[in-house]
Amino acid sequence: MSYRFEDSPAPPAMCRFVPKSDGPRHRRPLARASYLVAFVLGFLATGLVAFGLSTGPPPGFTQAPGEGTCTECHDSFGEETNRGPGELILEHPARYELGQIMTIVVRLEHAGQRRWGFQLTALVADTSEPAGELLVTDPLHTQLVEGPNGRLYIEHTREGTFAGKRDQAQWVVAWRAPDRDLGPITLYATGNAADGDGTRLGDWIYATESTIAPPSYPTATLRFPRGGETFRPGQPIIIHWEASSNATSFDVLFFPRAGALPLVIASALPAPTRSLVWIVPEISTESARLAILAFNDIGFALAESKPFRIVASPHQQPGDVNGDGRLDGRDLQLLLHILSGKAPPTPMADVNGDGAINFQDVLRLLELLLEPRLR
Ligand code: HEC
Repeated sequence: MSYRFEDSPAPPAMCRFVPKSDGPRHRRPLARASYLVAFVLGFLATGLVAFGLSTGPPPGFTQAPGEGTCTECHDSFGEETNRGPGELILEHPARYELGQIMTIVVRLEHAGQRRWGFQLTALVADTSEPAGELLVTDPLHTQLVEGPNGRLYIEHTREGTFAGKRDQAQWVVAWRAPDRDLGPITLYATGNAADGDGTRLGDWIYATESTIAPPSYPTATLRFPRGGETFRPGQPIIIHWEASSNATSFDVLFFPRAGALPLVIASALPAPTRSLVWIVPEISTESARLAILAFNDIGFALAESKPFRIVASPHQQPGDVNGDGRLDGRDLQLLLHILSGKAPPTPMADVNGDGAINFQDVLRLLELLLEPRLR
């Protein structure tokens, strides 16, 4: 694919940037148009081969509100981003403190590619306002550029394309959080996993965005289950999470399967709560998830597990109170917890099957536990 340049009648020597596909492309803001005019002039002046764009892409292509992406030029694989098998990943702390300087790692992966580029900007979430300050910590590989819109961007340098490096590349940048609480901050980034042929063709473009929570918002992380586990219906599990100290209450949600509406397992759990005993429901599913909602007066945070399975086991052993497939001291411990009211009762706690959960079940469980040794 190539570009056509149309001469406009006046003023003299003005060019208009027109993509070859004359489809109904979105209109770009005037500022971008004039930027592209300058770009195209430079393009014509220096010739197609010599134009030194790999010193860094033009600013304003991070897919932030009002911006396009690198696919506007690197469009061998279409105009959408993330079409390749690779991934653009941003790593950073979950939240900022006022004025805090934090490291952001921009990692781009795509097996087989061999030249790399990125651009990143930070905006106050749901606005077009720049947030905080992007800082260069590695001037050999990264640089700051200012866009026509006043936004600042951090991006690769020529050296920072890691020409010849295979499969992945990463850049380390820093960001200074604002001095006042501006609410959540969104990082927008695009990356080019290039083939290294020195042209804009044959390159895969990725885009991602990631939010940094403000100091006033609570944060939460689900520790168990994390996903990947297999549970049995009726099995008691202990949901466990961590949260910032400014969280004032929690809801726990259960998603029976992908795309299903959540069921509320518990709501308005008080501030110090970090765990909850939960009886896995009598369903069978390949992709259940749990989520914790942490609240305070200002906002909330959602921490979700990855999918886990609930599969009925055909024969549950008598005495296997916790349903883990083994008969051991943990079953006794759980049964004692249930009897003392520290854990909710489960069907399996009725070890002797007389329809009641009481001390008789403890005796029966002790028998079951000792049986093999008595024999
Ligand atoms: C306005 C057009 C344009 C935009 C937008 C653009 N590029 Fe490019 N890019 C080019 C051209 C032309 C080349 C080839 C010439 C050169 O390397 O300077 C190129 C080359 C590159 C290369 C080297 C490719 C290779 O295979 O050797 C990388 C890496 C790169 N760009 C990254 C990016 C990233 C990342 C973005 C988005 C943030 C981006 N570019 C946006 C025009 C563009």
